[in-house]
Amino acid sequence: MEVIFVTSNEGKYREVRAMGEKYGIEVGWIRKEYLEPQGNDLEEIARMSAELLSKDINSPFFLEDSGLFVKALNGFPGPYSSYVFKTIGNDGILKLMEGVEDRSAYFLAVVAYWDGEKVRTFTGKVEGKISREMRGDKGFGYDPIFEYEGRTFAEMGEEKNEYSHRRKAVEKLFSYISGR
Ligand code: IMP
Repeated sequence: MEVIFVTSNEGKYREVRAMGEKYGIEVGWIRKEYLEPQGNDLEEIARMSAELLSKDINSPFFLEDSGLFVKALNGFPGPYSSYVFKTIGNDGILKLMEGVEDRSAYFLAVVAYWDGEKVRTFTGKVEGKISREMRGDKGFGYDPIFEYEGRTFAEMGEEKNEYSHRRKAVEKLFSYISGR
């Protein structure tokens, strides 16, 4: 069985392709930037993005939208994670967190699947902490500052896929479409 993942992010695509193997699902790739409506709700953004994209893509596909939510920053950058990463990046988040004791944060992923008729969404969450400094050289995005049980995602490499928000959301999708 093949299902298409629409993303411009190669790191995400690699992670998701590896997850498909367990379910006998081949993950195809449409490497594409798409319009993301602005908003405060990740699920709504993912759903609307998929609805917009469905006008151009003739087969079933999914996309995934994720965000980093930092408790001491009242959930910032959340739905604005992509813009914040491009502007202030990991250095900027670490600066905002200087002197802050409560480092709690979580990643949230929403997968939106277009089945040819309608959109269905699946979510996944992983709780962790913002590290005091960047550590590790694997992964992408906020991985060097997101600590899960003492190690950052960027220090883990493939092991990240066992715990990640994306894994939880994508596995719900794969289980839904494979009936397993
Ligand atoms: P988007 O889902 O592609 O819009 O991602 C939002 C932002 O969060 C981007 O800057 C990504 O690099 C970052 N991001 C998404 N997922 C992860 C992850 O698993 N680890 C680290 N950063 C991530």
